[in-house]
Amino acid sequence: MKLLVTGGAGFIGSNLVEKLIRLGHSVSVIDNLSSGYESNIRDLDVTFFEEDVCNGEAVEKIIRNGNFDTIFHLAASVGNKRSIDHPILDSQINVIGTLNILEAARKHKVRKIVASSSAGIYGELKTVPIKEDHPIDPESPYSASKLCMEKQCLAYGHLYDMEVICLRYFNVYGKNQRFDAYGNVIPKFVFLALENKKISIYGDGEQTRDFIHVDDVVQANIKAFESHGISGAFNCASQTQITINRLVKLIQESMDQSIEVEYTDVRKGDVLHSLADISKARKALNFSPKVDIETGLQNYIHWAKAFNKN
Ligand SMILES: NC(=O)c1ccc[n+]([C@@H]2O[C@H](COP(=O)([O-])OP(=O)(O)OC[C@H]3O[C@@H](n4cnc5c(N)ncnc54)[C@H](O)[C@@H]3O)[C@@H](O)[C@H]2O)c1
Repeated sequence: MKLLVTGGAGFIGSNLVEKLIRLGHSVSVIDNLSSGYESNIRDLDVTFFEEDVCNGEAVEKIIRNGNFDTIFHLAASVGNKRSIDHPILDSQINVIGTLNILEAARKHKVRKIVASSSAGIYGELKTVPIKEDHPIDPESPYSASKLCMEKQCLAYGHLYDMEVICLRYFNVYGKNQRFDAYGNVIPKFVFLALENKKISIYGDGEQTRDFIHVDDVVQANIKAFESHGISGAFNCASQTQITINRLVKLIQESMDQSIEVEYTDVRKGDVLHSLADISKARKALNFSPKVDIETGLQNYIHWAKAFNKN
């Protein structure tokens, strides 16, 4: 089938593109390379449009000419810190950029949208495990813009002849995830450890997170794409909890080296425990995460070591 992946040069997008190509689909990518890398998709047989989703005319032209069955919409300004630094740009990309995609999809009769949402929309956690009907209370411009984009996508699903699935990712890790100023905890710890640098843990390290390997996020996207007659928002997580202390221990074991750790003050706004309930996605989409944290970390460290050498 003819498929479009926005943000396809990014961390999750490039893993998705690789899998879709392996499944025999014809894949196009829109990405402006603001946080993605052409090298992530250089060796893949994709049609690449270096374009900004905020450019409505360009997006419309690509979608008009593409005759796409499904659009996987991942392009976004990603992360709380980035959104606090650049709140206006965050909403321009995440909200207006999404509307550009939706409008073009509506006009040119795209059958399905699979959009990347975020667990950040839940805000402060009231109950764990988190179901999709947990109160929604975003606490950063990023979470607010992801909520807005999710609602816009679902509204298009209600209004028009279009199936729309929004996947609320929890903490994703895996191949092609760099460590940058906005980096998540796993790349941060692994890349610092590779350079024998000290890592900082906020609080006592007994806080828990629900990490999901990128292969399982790709699986969720493909299950969503293959489903029929289903629209809605679904948690996308592994439904397993791990403390940050245990995470560091696993990284040490996988790397076969000790890591110097310092404990610092709890960071304002960080939740203590995070764990998703994924029964809705299991039932409706037949989503079933496969990669345990031990295996996922080993794979990631293997990739990070090779990446560091280049
Ligand atoms: N990584 C996570 O843990 C996580 C968690 C929740 C949700 N998400 C969501 O998953 C999606 C992918 O995130 P990721 O982690 O792969 O981040 P990423 O930064 O690697 O990917 C985002 C991609 O979008 C592209 N992009 C940004 N602005 C653009 C624009 N204006 N026009 C065109 N392309 C643009 C970037 O260049 C990049 O390739 C995002 O929608 C993000 O909100 C990620």
